Amino acid sequence: MKISVIGTGYVGLVTGTCLAETGNDVLCIDIDKSKVKQMQQGEVPIYEPHLDVLFERNIKAKRLGFSTSLEDGLNHGEIIFLALPTPEDEDGSADLSYVLGAAKNIGKLLKQYKVIVDKSTVPVGTADKVKNVISKETSVKFDVVSNPEFLREGFAVDDFLKPERIIIGSSSERATELMQKLYKPFVRSGNPVIIMDERSAELTKYAANAFLATKFTFMNEIANFCEKVGADVDKVRVGMGTDSRIGKRFLFPGIGYGGSCFPKDVKALHKSGNENGYKFDILNAVIKVNDIQKKILIPRIESYFSNDLKGKRIAIWGLAFKPETDDIREAPALYMIEELLNKGVIISVFDPEAIQNVRNRFGNAIEYANNMYEATNGADALIISTEWSIFRTPDFTRLKSSLSQPVIFDGRNLYDIEDMGKERFYYSSIGRKNTYN
Ligand SMILES: NC(=O)c1ccc[n+]([C@@H]2O[C@H](COP(=O)([O-])OP(=O)(O)OC[C@H]3O[C@@H](n4cnc5c(N)ncnc54)[C@H](O)[C@@H]3O)[C@@H](O)[C@H]2O)c1
Repeated sequence: MKISVIGTGYVGLVTGTCLAETGNDVLCIDIDKSKVKQMQQGEVPIYEPHLDVLFERNIKAKRLGFSTSLEDGLNHGEIIFLALPTPEDEDGSADLSYVLGAAKNIGKLLKQYKVIVDKSTVPVGTADKVKNVISKETSVKFDVVSNPEFLREGFAVDDFLKPERIIIGSSSERATELMQKLYKPFVRSGNPVIIMDERSAELTKYAANAFLATKFTFMNEIANFCEKVGADVDKVRVGMGTDSRIGKRFLFPGIGYGGSCFPKDVKALHKSGNENGYKFDILNAVIKVNDIQKKILIPRIESYFSNDLKGKRIAIWGLAFKPETDDIREAPALYMIEELLNKGVIISVFDPEAIQNVRNRFGNAIEYANNMYEATNGADALIISTEWSIFRTPDFTRLKSSLSQPVIFDGRNLYDIEDMGKERFYYSSIGRKNTYN
């Protein structure tokens, strides 16, 4: 099939590349000229494991192309995916200007029947809005489908190729058939393609993200309470997780959720509730707790250094909002960097993939290390902010001699408390007792 994807970020580029991988002829459109040029030269503009291999293969096979022209995109695809940003607006709602702006231009350019697929995460009612905007510009027949994306950055290619489920929100038989045909190769193992109305599809995505954010925010609160009462959250977590109704996943406490999805999606659902006469008390609490959790290590660090952080040198391992991505949107590390800079701290950071994005944001205000031990060299303390695998089994002897004091604030609970006691680190983590040097 001929497919166009408008917007080639984490979702759009993965969607386009994976659809090309199953034999479709895909044209990816982006407004960002330098990004398109980079892709035309065969360079993947983001870090996403395994994407490069598929990207290269499909460009070579001439199944994957790139352009800045929306008109080319509309002429090319019979299915047009919108994988456009829906960032948080000033009032917490989802900013639909990218999606509705593209819809208007699509309406102006439409010459024959197309299926317009909303892959962006959008509030309930957006498919109707997209339909209305396009209809105002054209009398050509078209359908709008809601097809929310559930991929996880860091696993995006695997998630797209082997989805647990595909949600298709559509009230058109013709569009539904086309979508089922397109996705058939991805569900050969029997995972479901769930067909529903557009509104339910739109809400499914928000409900899923808000539920997950609530689940780990709940665990963060349990972790905070563990510290007050001398319990160990790791033990509580394992004890709870063995109940199959609860499950083992998403129970790891930490320094809050970040990323390009959870923060904005929870807020957008909360706002959407307000707009429709429903008060989501639970989401209000999730937002509040997470805001505090993102900076929960700061008062601990201040207290350890007797409220005198000026001139202290602190290393940070991990900048991306989670491992296996270079995405730093809403990453807890950024909040900590800002707070620590305000307190006069000298900061040295290391991340396997996200350094460049952080450099674009903080410039010369902080130091960037080439490896994890270079970051800790001469530092008074180490903060662990992202659970990249390489941080899981460091050479503690080397780490101790590199740090000027053996002090770790671990926002991801990477190490065993007993081990850290034996290694004689001052080790502060989330929901567990401290060890002292
Ligand atoms: N990132 C994720 O893990 C993820 C997962 C599921 C759903 N989503 C949702 O998917 C949507 C896209 O997210 P993303 O992370 O891929 O965003 P992104 O910011 O990485 O990419 C968006 C792309 O759209 C391009 N763009 C902006 N305006 C354009 C226009 N008018 N025409 C063409 N291109 C344009 C930008 O240049 C950028 O390359 C959002 O709604 C997001 O909530 C994201």
